[in-house]
Amino acid sequence: MMELTILFLRACLALLAMPIYLLSFLGIWEPFCKKIFFPFFLEKLTAIHNGKTKKQKQDLFRNLPDFTGPSGELKLLEIGTGCGANFQFYPPGCKVTCSDVNPNFQQGLSRSMSKNQHIHYERFLTAAGEDLHQVPNGSVDAVVCTLVLCSVQSVSKTLKEVQRVLRPGGVFYFLEHVAASPSSWKLFWQQVCHPTWKLVFDGCCLTREIWKDLEEANFSELKLQHISVPLPWTPIKPHIIGDPYYWRAVLGTNSLWKYSKHAAKRSIAQISVHPDFNRETFENDIALFKLHSAVHYSDYIQPICLPPAHPQLYPDNETRCFISGWGRIAEKGKTSSVLQEAEVEIIPSHVCNSSDAYGGLINANMICAGSSSGDVDSCQGDSGGALACHHPIANKYYVMGVTSFGLGCGHPKFPGIYVRSAPYRKWIKSQLLLSSTATAPASTALPLTAIGMLLLYTS
Ligand SMILES: *[C@@H]1O[C@H](CO)[C@@H](O)[C@H](O)[C@H]1NC(C)=O
Ligand SMILES: *[C@@H]1O[C@H](CO)[C@@H](O)[C@H](O)[C@H]1NC(C)=O
Ligand SMILES: *[C@@H]1O[C@H](CO)[C@@H](O)[C@H](O)[C@H]1NC(C)=O
Ligand SMILES: *[C@@H]1O[C@H](CO)[C@@H](O)[C@H](O)[C@H]1NC(C)=O
Repeated sequence: MMELTILFLRACLALLAMPIYLLSFLGIWEPFCKKIFFPFFLEKLTAIHNGKTKKQKQDLFRNLPDFTGPSGELKLLEIGTGCGANFQFYPPGCKVTCSDVNPNFQQGLSRSMSKNQHIHYERFLTAAGEDLHQVPNGSVDAVVCTLVLCSVQSVSKTLKEVQRVLRPGGVFYFLEHVAASPSSWKLFWQQVCHPTWKLVFDGCCLTREIWKDLEEANFSELKLQHISVPLPWTPIKPHIIGDPYYWRAVLGTNSLWKYSKHAAKRSIAQISVHPDFNRETFENDIALFKLHSAVHYSDYIQPICLPPAHPQLYPDNETRCFISGWGRIAEKGKTSSVLQEAEVEIIPSHVCNSSDAYGGLINANMICAGSSSGDVDSCQGDSGGALACHHPIANKYYVMGVTSFGLGCGHPKFPGIYVRSAPYRKWIKSQLLLSSTATAPASTALPLTAIGMLLLYTS
């Protein structure tokens, strides 16, 4: 039924745009669009879009100077420069190579260049994103794509080129409009507009799920944020942007895709990684995040207790313990957009430390938890989440552990391993004390909540 409605509305829209379809049929529209209409339209859109995304773009490009190469120069490649929408955000002295498959943007481009004389324009290439052979391997520090990936022939080939031209340690910035969330009205209208939009706006596809290509491109690190850009009456509101905040705390949400109205977002003022953290053995795998400003507790945001240093509360068979996270739901599965929770049993160290299990890897600061059959476990993306145990006498939840590592997910004998938090009480207190000058007493419990919320992205 939905499909039929979409087809019907598509036909109505096509009827409205009949003159354009006719011109296209006669072979007149495409050249006109590329040479005159699209450059004109893009310059107008760029001005509006830049107005609406100025703050995001400033934040996004803020750390560009950090990627200056060893030569002391910052070499940047833009794919789909268009009218030069991003020039104003680049730091002075930055060396920009511009590329666009459509060479007809000169007017807008020269206007933007004369306004932005703080950067060096190296070269202008007429090239498609999928084939940038003029740019040598590993030769640029940063690649930028904004409102381009909707209209390239192949997103994955373009991303391959991005990876080819970037030097090791280089960075890719993007801001793209994308398909709206599944079964939303926005997606419905995008589907209705899709064919006509593509014809009118030089091949731009409304319904691309570009984040999927980005996930599959295996960048060593992908920080991606879904945002909505307020462009009324257009089907291009949903956007994705390379996450300019890098670390951000979101408290009180169940869905990563759509924050609840009770969610509180905070930037991070400080991260303290345990000084003895060992990447190889995962010893002391614990860190503290300090929120930029305090949040108010609510029905959706609650603190959790830190267990005493010498736990009389050592979990016994009466203690019920729970793990949670947005990580993968199977070893090779997808991550979950909605918070998952499971009850686990504490597995005695001598069992999981035995030679047919972790074989000596488990130290006294680690807890093994899961189930003997292995079918309840944490997985990649859950790291940093709490192993929360309910103490029946105190009737409180304690963060007994923090999700750390495991061999695969859900293998019998190889349960998830959690950092025992009690032994770190002293370290945590000392860190709180160090940063307490700026922190109101009411929020001293916050960083503990934040452990669980934030380390999720580390593994
Ligand atoms: C550049 O990289 C591509 C693949 O990333 C490789 O096939 C090609 O041989 C490289 N070229 C040079 C000159 O190293
Ligand atoms: C990314 O990695 C996965 C698994 O390691 C692999 O299957 C896939 O082909 C890779 N993608 C690219 C574009 O290299
Ligand atoms: C818990 O352990 C005690 C002794 O350690 C035992 O007597 C009791 O039956 C156990 N309870 C359960 C529910 O297994
Ligand atoms: C696990 O085994 C290793 C090696 O035998 C040992 O050093 C370590 O203390 C054991 N861990 C625990 C918690 O007993």
